Amino acid sequence: MAQLNFGGVLEDVVTREEFPLSKAQEILKGETIAIIGYGVQGPGQALNLRDNGINVIVGQRDNSKTYDKAVSDGFIPGKTLFSIEEAAEKATIICYLLSDAAQIQLWPTIEKYLTPGKGLYFSHGFGITYNDQTNIVPPKDVDVFLVAPKGSGTSLRRMFLEGRGLNSSFAVHQDATGKGRDRAIALGIGVGSGYLFETDFRKEVFSDLTGERGTLMGAIQGIFEAQYNVLRANGHSPSEAFNETVEELTQSLMPLVAENGMDWMYANCSTTAQRGALDWKGRFRDAVQPVMAELYKSVAEGKEAAKSIASNSQADYREKLEIELAEIRDSEMWQAGKTVRSLRPENQ
Ligand SMILES: NC(=O)c1ccc[n+]([C@@H]2O[C@H](COP(=O)([O-])OP(=O)(O)OC[C@H]3O[C@@H](n4cnc5c(N)ncnc54)[C@H](OP(=O)(O)O)[C@@H]3O)[C@@H](O)[C@H]2O)c1
Repeated sequence: MAQLNFGGVLEDVVTREEFPLSKAQEILKGETIAIIGYGVQGPGQALNLRDNGINVIVGQRDNSKTYDKAVSDGFIPGKTLFSIEEAAEKATIICYLLSDAAQIQLWPTIEKYLTPGKGLYFSHGFGITYNDQTNIVPPKDVDVFLVAPKGSGTSLRRMFLEGRGLNSSFAVHQDATGKGRDRAIALGIGVGSGYLFETDFRKEVFSDLTGERGTLMGAIQGIFEAQYNVLRANGHSPSEAFNETVEELTQSLMPLVAENGMDWMYANCSTTAQRGALDWKGRFRDAVQPVMAELYKSVAEGKEAAKSIASNSQADYREKLEIELAEIRDSEMWQAGKTVRSLRPENQ
């Protein structure tokens, strides 16, 4: 492990220099890695592992568009593409990448194939941390670990193809064979992580659920709506309100933040913008912090897990989701966004 300074705090991380792909290949030699589920993470991880020379098979229910996608990605029925049960049986490491709701439903099936010495891999701490709600309790004689890429499976694949890597966390919950930690890190490198930082299952899921409800997805849409509504209520056109709320952020400012940090983005804006941002950031932090604290508490108490299990396991989940997404898509703000996007020179 390399020790690096993260803002004054020393942390151990695994980089590709000290844990090269050749080491991962050596550790995983002789293993059969079964990617169970070919949704979003499944393809990213399976294809990166395959391209990295690791022996990977896919378990996916047939009669599904997802099965067809696995075939079109080059997985061969009966050779590298199987039913979920067959793949779980053949696996030495089962990568459980079904949706979190399906993981609960299929657990009795998967559990049968967890014979001593096998590895059980997750990309989320959800199933294990909330096992009072999921009933996912693996046998003691298997390794249980996770690698959680910090982003979409689509980005994991795209960045791999560009020679880049998405950062991932890893955690070992059970090391029955004594090889669990090496297996986890080797898979983390194999799926194309940039660097790996260590966590545990609880912290992984608590931070993940907070992040997606917070700045990554929930809070950002909420703050966009608030600003857009205020601008519109004060007579600004949709075009002006959208540009000042979203377009400038995604097209101009966030790439600068990604490159060199917030202060560098501020430094590259007008003095008027800098003064205003510095004066108002504290007001926003103080207004939002109590909501963030409430959110974290709800995550830690298992309330967010209960809500998502209850809604995601309904048969009409996708139809109901579509109604909620359509509400966002059809709102004036995002319809204005559609027109703004179409006017980008590169889209004309
Ligand atoms: N999405 C991400 O970017 C992301 C990022 C980091 C970690 N993770 C974690 O990675 C894991 C996988 O997430 P994901 O987003 O890739 O999942 P997902 O896209 O929702 O997974 C869908 C997969 O589950 C299968 N499935 C759903 N219901 C099923 C059922 N009743 N029986 C059999 N198969 C069923 C789907 O098959 P069909 O298509 O046939 O329904 C598909 O293969 C989760 O633990 C998630 O938290 C995800």
